[in-house]
Amino acid sequence: MSAVESAMKRMWHRDLASDPTTHAWVLNLYRAGERHPQTVKDYFPYAHAPSAELAEKMRTHERDEERHTKMYTRAIEGLGEPVIDLEGYDVFNEVIRDKTSASFTIADTDTADEKREKVAHFLAHAHFLEKRIARSLEFHVDACRVMRSDRVATVVESVLADEIGHVAYTIDAARDLLTRKRAEEVIDLHRRGEAKANYAFSRHQVKTALSRFATKLARSHKSAYALAGVVMLEAERHV
Ligand SMILES: [Fe+2]
Ligand SMILES: [Fe+2]
Repeated sequence: MSAVESAMKRMWHRDLASDPTTHAWVLNLYRAGERHPQTVKDYFPYAHAPSAELAEKMRTHERDEERHTKMYTRAIEGLGEPVIDLEGYDVFNEVIRDKTSASFTIADTDTADEKREKVAHFLAHAHFLEKRIARSLEFHVDACRVMRSDRVATVVESVLADEIGHVAYTIDAARDLLTRKRAEEVIDLHRRGEAKANYAFSRHQVKTALSRFATKLARSHKSAYALAGVVMLEAERHV
């Protein structure tokens, strides 16, 4: 990440964490991602994991995300703000899925090899998703500390520690399931999907914040975010 991009993200998170309404808006976005697995049937396909060890890791992962959903719920309530079940492009998982051509939904009629490949696809999808979230949470912890939102900082730090574990095991497990060549093809497909989704999701959120919170943001910051939106639209075309 360039120094300019880091500075922009630091400013963005600090601006949003400085006010309970905008802070709760960000926490609702994080919560939406944590909740997504509970709204679909094809996440954490542990019934098809080729080893008991991987199945157990996926079960633990699923429980972690359920716990994170509750942690964000309490953090939003602690700010005195409403908890909202977001949908569509407000859910980062949905945006990645929209930008990735491969599906990991397993059908009963799939062969054993097809099931194995789809488990690998799910793990590669989860890896890039978790990596992006972990990066965002690092900026958010900094913002919470600077803005003296210490209770939220403690929650986000705890979530971040779990996400770092999810980033690591998912990529290792995806590689173990496939030949080296196929694993790299699958991983690259999900890397590109996340890269496109990263720009599309951020652009959508910048647009939303500029229209919803126009009076809460400094004019110079609004200009910078609007420019970032234009740059992200162009960047997505080149992924
Ligand atoms: Fe999580
Ligand atoms: Fe996670």
